[in-house]
This record gives sequence, C-alpha cells and structure tokens, in this order.
Amino acid sequence: KDEPPLVFSWLPFIGSTIDYGMDPYKFYFKYQKKYGNIFSFVLVGRKHTVCLGPEGNNFVLNGSVNEISAADIYRDLTLPIFGKDVCYDCSPAKLMEQKKLLKYSLTPDKLDSFVPIFLDVMQNYVETAEDFRGNEGVFDVVKSMAVTTMFTAAASLQGKEVRENLDHGLADLYHTLDLSFIPINFYLPGLPLPVNRRRDDAHKKIAAIYTNIIKSRRALGGESAREADDDMIWSLMRSTYKDGTPVPDHEIAHLMIGLLMAGQHNAYSIGAWILFRLASRPDIQEELYQEQLKALGTDLSISAKRDLVSKLLLHKMVVRETLRLHDPIHTVMRAVKIPLTFVSHDPESSKSRPYKIPTSHVLISAPGVTAQSAEFFPEPDKWEPKRWETMTDFLDGAEKRGAMSAFLPFGAGRHRCVGEAFAYLQLCTVTAFMVRHFVFRPLEGEGVPKTDYTAMMTRPVLPARLRWKRRST
Ligand code: HEM
Repeated sequence: KDEPPLVFSWLPFIGSTIDYGMDPYKFYFKYQKKYGNIFSFVLVGRKHTVCLGPEGNNFVLNGSVNEISAADIYRDLTLPIFGKDVCYDCSPAKLMEQKKLLKYSLTPDKLDSFVPIFLDVMQNYVETAEDFRGNEGVFDVVKSMAVTTMFTAAASLQGKEVRENLDHGLADLYHTLDLSFIPINFYLPGLPLPVNRRRDDAHKKIAAIYTNIIKSRRALGGESAREADDDMIWSLMRSTYKDGTPVPDHEIAHLMIGLLMAGQHNAYSIGAWILFRLASRPDIQEELYQEQLKALGTDLSISAKRDLVSKLLLHKMVVRETLRLHDPIHTVMRAVKIPLTFVSHDPESSKSRPYKIPTSHVLISAPGVTAQSAEFFPEPDKWEPKRWETMTDFLDGAEKRGAMSAFLPFGAGRHRCVGEAFAYLQLCTVTAFMVRHFVFRPLEGEGVPKTDYTAMMTRPVLPARLRWKRRST
C-alpha cells in the first residue's frame, strides 16, 4: 500500500484518541521514532496523517487552497464563537482580504502607540487585584495572565469605548467563549451542551457591545467624529473589500471577537509559562531587570515607547524560547481536497519514498515537534533563552519566513498569524512590567507545572500559582 504507516490500535473507532489526547507531543515523538516523518492514526473514527520535520511543516502549512482547506476543518468549531461571514465562514480569498485589513492596524507605528496603553492597563491591574495587595504574596498565574493579556489587547486594539468600560464582565464573557474551544465541539459540533448555551449567550452579548460602539460612532458623525485615537474598529469602519463593498458592521464585530480569541489563549498561556520559567531561573529574572535599567532607565512608563522589543533583546529571547518549548498550538489541521503525495526523505539512508494521502484523511502539521527536536535545538528540553544568541538564522529580520523552518510557532503560508509582532510586543511589555515591579519564586516543593492538554490549545495545569515579592526600588 502507498498510504502512510498506520499506528496500531485494538479499538477501531477510538484508535489513538486516548494516547494522543493525553500528550500529543509525546505521541508524535514516539511514532516519529518508529515510522519517520509521516504516519497516520485514528482519532474519533477518522484517519489523521501527520507530516513532520521541516519538509512536513512546509508540505502542510504551504499547501495551496486547491489541495487543502482550513475552513472545512475549523468552521463548525469557530462559527458559533466568532460569528458568521468572517475567518473560516467565508471564502479563502475573503479571509485573505480580512487579514490584510487587520494588518493596517498592526503597523510598527501603531504598535509603538500601544506600549503606554499596555503599561497603563498593567499598572491599573496590579493596583486593584486582590492577589497583589501588600508587599508579598501568592498569585494565580493563569488567571492574572488571562485578565492582563485580554485587557491589554482589548484596550489597545479596540479603542476608547472598550478601554473606558474594561471590567471583568467583558473578560468573563471572553472566558466563556474560550471554555468552548474543547475537543468535543471539534469532533461533535452542535451538541446542546450547557457550555455551548453559555457560549452562544456570551457571543450575542459581546457582538452587541461592538455593534453598539459602531452605531454610536456613526450616529456621532462617523469618521468626522474620530479623535486622534485611530483603533482597529475605526480602521475597519472606513475599509472596503477589493470590489468596493464596505465591511458590514456585523463583520467588524465578528472580526473583533475572532481577533481577540485568536490571540488571547495563546498569549495568556505563553505569559503564564514565562513567569513560571522565570521563577525557576532567578538569574534570568535579574538579567531582565538589569537589561531594562540599562536600555530604558528607571522610569519604564516614560522611556518604553519606541521600538520596545528591539531594545529588550533578552526579553524577546525569553518570549521566543517559551514559544519553542510551550507552543500552545500542538496540532494544526487541514482537510484534504484532492489526493496528495508527500515524499519522505530518510537522511540516514538518503532514500526518498512517496506516500499517498487520500481525501478521507485529515492532514496535520505539528511544528512544535521540530522546535523540540535535538536535531535542530541542542538539549531541546532545556529552557535556555540565550540559545537564541547564536541561532542567528531565526533572529531579527533574518528569521526564516518560509515554511521550511524548524521554528514556526506562528504558522506559515496563507494562514500565517497576523498577530506575531503584536504578541511579541504585548508579551515583552507584560514581562518587563512584572519583572520591573516584582520578584517571582515557585511555591515550596513546586516547580514548572505540567501541561494541560484537555482543551484545543494548551496551558499550565491548574492550580498554577507563584510567590511574588515587591521589588524595593
Ligand atoms: C494564525 C499562533 C497571537 C491573530 C495563527 C496560526 C498560528 C498562530 C500557529 C496559524 C494557524 C493555522 O495555520 O491554522 C499564534 C501564537 C500567538 C498568536 C502562538 C501568541 C503567542 C495572535 C494575536 C493575534 C492573532 C495576538 C491578533 C492580534 C491570528 C490570525 C490568524 C492567526 C488572524 C490567521 C488565521 C488563518 O488565516 O487561518 N496564529 N498567534 N494571533 N493568528 Fe495568531
């Protein structure tokens, strides 16, 4: 047979669901060792084929729209969360146009203007959060990062009205949406579960918040009522598609939800892992503090405005290394539209072998596997931000943009992330702020938590807490 080798299971429908579900990375590494860079396995009754290695990353992520489809796979999961006519509920060409429109609000100048907003939100958070009363204490890391990354993103991207009304109500609504990103909604969408009723209710409420903002802006005179604050909602309100159609209000609302959801889970998960890793490495924590003092002086709020990420290189490497080891998206899926052939190269024997992938299979890319392989990253299990000092291929501008790379936490090809620069800036600023004000240590007898794989994207297992102490300066 020309099809890829199939992971054996005694249970025909369940197949590898349990083995994979418990730890997808362990599963991928185990069968990569046995079969090489391509193999198939059964998840919930359907054959899935994963292509690994840089060639595998490239094959899946760079596939053309005639060959593969992200929408056919993700639409049922994301439609009730984001809403209709955006992202996977429209043609691939329309999604490309929407991504282009979003990029207008993510230019380097716009990103610079977000730094004071991020710092403001952070200051406000630590002044009001119960967990940060006094001079030392214990805090819930995942909760803190979920609230701060959501508030920083909403306040910067979505403008004054959202910023002025930021409270835990909006964060709770987004959290309710996030809770529905679970495998059962992926494999068996549309079930009348309580989690889905709550999701639908939350979606309606959030969409109403954005459509009301748009309506009141239009009622005030539209573009002429705009003050200096030119946020993403303003930008979309004056945008048109290529054929001249203005972006309808409901699409602007749904894009706002989609964008926040796309970034939110990944950002808070990485933010939480950063703090856990730093708590276990007091040396790096101190170096980050010194880097800030040297690059920015003592007043973070005044000095940290222009081009923050390039001034804080170690901060950037901390984010990058955490993305390498804790990539929240362990599995990227695509539907197969026409029969495909993947040629697997065995470097030891230098032999190549083609494998046929039929349309009945789901195609998988897992770039986190190359990012955690000794072949590309020596001592891959070690969290060592300074490894990036010598990995110049990946650093600043020289980063390999192509899909044939071993490090692709933001994907590649037509579905590549539009939020990479935003995410680096947000995570560097949040980390800088936390390190500037506090010192972190693990709770007694605890280290870096294990990974929770039960949702579609990963995060630290709860409860995830750290000890903090206010810096004396
Ligand atoms: C796509 C990762 C933050 C918006 C993607 C993809 C990955 C990714 C891997 C490709 C998915 C695929 O090929 O199916 C991440 C990580 C983030 C992050 C690790 C943070 C640490 C953000 C932020 C935003 C954002 C902050 C928005 C401001 C998007 C959008 C897409 C995308 C719009 C395109 C989806 C598509 O074309 O199918 N992201 N992302 N992401 N991301 Fe991000």
